[in-house]
Amino acid sequence: MTVSLEQLRRCHFAVDLGASRTRVYVKGMGLVVDQPSVAAMNTRTGALIAVGEFAEKMTGRTPDYIRVVKPISGGTVVDIEIAQRMLRHLLGDKIRRSLRRKPRLRAAACAPYDADPLAQRAIIETLVGLGARRVELVDTLIAAAVGCGLPVERPEASMILVCGAAATQVAVLSLGSIVCAERLPVGGEAVDNAIVQHLRHEHELMLPNQSVRPLELALDGNGLTPYGPASTEIHGRDVATGLARSVRVDTAAVRDAIQTPLMSVLDGIGKVLRDCPPDLVADLADRGIMMVGGSALLPGFDQLLREATGMPVHIAERPDVCAVQGIGAMLEGRIEPLVLDPLAA
Ligand SMILES: Nc1ncnc2c1ncn2[C@@H]1O[C@H](COP(=O)(O)OP(=O)(O)OP(=O)(O)O)[C@@H](O)[C@H]1O
Ligand SMILES: [Mg+2]
Repeated sequence: MTVSLEQLRRCHFAVDLGASRTRVYVKGMGLVVDQPSVAAMNTRTGALIAVGEFAEKMTGRTPDYIRVVKPISGGTVVDIEIAQRMLRHLLGDKIRRSLRRKPRLRAAACAPYDADPLAQRAIIETLVGLGARRVELVDTLIAAAVGCGLPVERPEASMILVCGAAATQVAVLSLGSIVCAERLPVGGEAVDNAIVQHLRHEHELMLPNQSVRPLELALDGNGLTPYGPASTEIHGRDVATGLARSVRVDTAAVRDAIQTPLMSVLDGIGKVLRDCPPDLVADLADRGIMMVGGSALLPGFDQLLREATGMPVHIAERPDVCAVQGIGAMLEGRIEPLVLDPLAA
């Protein structure tokens, strides 16, 4: 999946289809869409009722004939047709009209590291359905590294950790390419599930999906580190009686509950470091790890990594949009190509 900067500069728009959010960058306009990858369908007529934020609010609150679907899951477009319809709505008429005016519409898209040919094909098909004549795929790891300003093109190692919703990707980059990388199928969703399971087992409480985020936020201010508040109150439904109930949750127990997904991320980092040439690991010891992706904001995650690896850990300024901003910068030609002097003989 190596595409030249020259090709990218000719693209008119770039898309990052994430399991949790869809983001679109249009050349000359910037980031125009950053919305949940959710669509609400009328199952009787097949009509699309809502997309994005509004559709997400409907989750779990719909009558029988409305179904809320996520066309992207685990970093792959699982329903190409709905993904296209969702994108069309998210873009809106005005932007679509301006894109349609381009004679040969070209698109770029982020693809997860290690995406299989089928997953790549699904991304391409989705964008072809939107009118793109040609689609360039860029590795999310490279796009995110560019987006958070890592000096990827230098002969020094940088380590990047892309913490998405469905997957976490970790890589060591040097000279503009991936030296070694790993993709782990755990992310923000696995952490949310761990919290839901914990409350169900320990407190017999069913937590609506939409309350997981407020719980994480309540734990903010280093809540997931040992120095945060000792407990927090949350509301849910009693598993046995079905009645609404609120409980005080011990934050230390929640912290333990989410250890399993976080530990597999640590294992992945360990594996990449073991595979990496020693010279690069020496660079990493002082440059540290850059965290991007929405789940990088999980309170206490950076601290955990710092303690486990002994390396400096930084969170990018806007971790959630790094990948799409990076690919956008490449579209706008703000990234200079790497010139490897061929040592003219
Ligand atoms: N402030 C926050 N605290 C904790 N988690 C957060 C926060 N903001 C976002 N997240 C989590 O980040 C995830 C979304 O991150 P992101 O937008 O990078 O995912 P994505 O690109 O859609 O997913 P993927 O790249 O895996 O397909 C969600 O799982 C969400 O729970
Ligand atoms: Mg992503």
